[in-house]
Amino acid sequence: MSQSLATMAYLGAAILFILSLGGLSNPETSRRGNLFGMLGMAIAILATVFGPRVTTDGIAWIVAALVIGGGIGIYAAKVVKMTQMPELVALMHSLVGLAACLVGFASYVDTSLHLEGAEKIIHEVEIYVGILIGAVTFSGSLIAFGKLNGKIGGKPLLLPARHWLNLVALLVVIYFGREFINAPSVEAGMPALIIMTVIALLFGIHMVMAIGGADMPVVVSMLNSYSGWAAAATGFMLSNDLLIVTGALVGSSGAILSYIMCNAMNRNFISVIAGGFGSGAPKAAAGAAAQPQGEVVAVNSQETAEMLRDAKRVIIVPGYGMAVAQAQHTVFEITKTLREKGVQVQFAIHPVAGRMPGHMNVLLAEAKVPYDIVMEMDEINEDFPDADVVIVIGANDIVNPSAAEDPTSPIAGMPVLEVWKAKHTIVMKRSMASGYAGVDNPLFYKDNNRMLFGDAKKMLDEVLTALRG
Ligand code: TAP
Repeated sequence: MSQSLATMAYLGAAILFILSLGGLSNPETSRRGNLFGMLGMAIAILATVFGPRVTTDGIAWIVAALVIGGGIGIYAAKVVKMTQMPELVALMHSLVGLAACLVGFASYVDTSLHLEGAEKIIHEVEIYVGILIGAVTFSGSLIAFGKLNGKIGGKPLLLPARHWLNLVALLVVIYFGREFINAPSVEAGMPALIIMTVIALLFGIHMVMAIGGADMPVVVSMLNSYSGWAAAATGFMLSNDLLIVTGALVGSSGAILSYIMCNAMNRNFISVIAGGFGSGAPKAAAGAAAQPQGEVVAVNSQETAEMLRDAKRVIIVPGYGMAVAQAQHTVFEITKTLREKGVQVQFAIHPVAGRMPGHMNVLLAEAKVPYDIVMEMDEINEDFPDADVVIVIGANDIVNPSAAEDPTSPIAGMPVLEVWKAKHTIVMKRSMASGYAGVDNPLFYKDNNRMLFGDAKKMLDEVLTALRG
């Protein structure tokens, strides 16, 4: 393939990636967005493998790597559960970071380039910055993976004077950057590069270890952004325009997503980006959150069905428990049955419900729930007083009134779905256990709340049978 054809293919792939991102912004166009992304990636891979920079001897290596990597990817995609997706994503980000580091070291020891003067300095800066971002992404993502799958505890690790430690690390990295650029030979520059890599790896570990469980969603999307910048840095090192464009797209869209999630969780975006985001839920340290008072009233599935049947307006709030129980199909059947009986049914989606952005939207779309009854938090939060029954399916933190009412709560200030303002609420979960943030929920004790204990799928099957009966 000639250089100009490869460039055209890269341009086409870049346009498809932009169209893909556009498509993914809305559930109705997301399938098309995915298709554009897949097509763009296929074109990008073909144009790279058959492009002018790959020699005939190299193709066998690339095909072997594609078969191994593709095989692992297909296997992982098939076996991973929807609820484990954030862990898989974190693991994949770590690979992008590792790739940036390896490409950086390989470019540095590559003797075929013979660059001089400003070109040499620019190339070395690309290598230094690329490895720096790659190493932070690599170790940070591995720790995020460990925290998300529970192998590493969710409690934030707060070292004394940690901001000073970070500042010293930054100054040392700048100092060794100077040494690296001024080094007369590859051998002389290598120690500086290695020291910086070790510091960047430690910084990545420290950055994510210092973040509390409740703030992990923001960290995952932030690492997503970092992985994009690591890919862009790799693109600079390899002089590959498509990798630069794609990396920048991922980097900036990840940053925008982090910003949206910070807003959804009432966190300060700048302090997240600056890495000064240590104590997780900032007020958690106070630990003085009021204990919920009162009695919990349990109902059975028959009573739940009666309450739903008697309602004019029902709002369903799905959460992580619905994903665990895989109850979305039964939820849809209940919705259909209620709508046939003339009940108005809507869904209220919190931006961080579940364990990944859009988690609930994906499950509801899979169950074929019509998009026009699925509302975002801002669209429906004021409607709860008009709802006769709100049914909360395996959600906890996102409907916790203490976020709005108790300034000492660890999740104080986080915008939540104000379900307690409805005439009646029914919370479905298996026990009185707290949610992801580990915070007690006073909603369970409110006079207008009832608890339907049990696995969400099993209980909803019973509710459906009762409704149909
Ligand atoms: P959570 O607060 O985690 O609550 C889920 C509830 O589901 C639990 O209290 C659990 O109670 C119940 N549950 C679990 N399995 C169940 C089953 N089989 N049947 C019925 N109930 C079940 O979830 P949420 O309200 O969706 O809030 C999300 C939380 O995750 C937030 O704190 C958010 O910050 C965090 N987070 C979000 C993301 C993104 S991006 N969405 C990523 C990581 C973390 P029982 O054990 O008593 O059943």
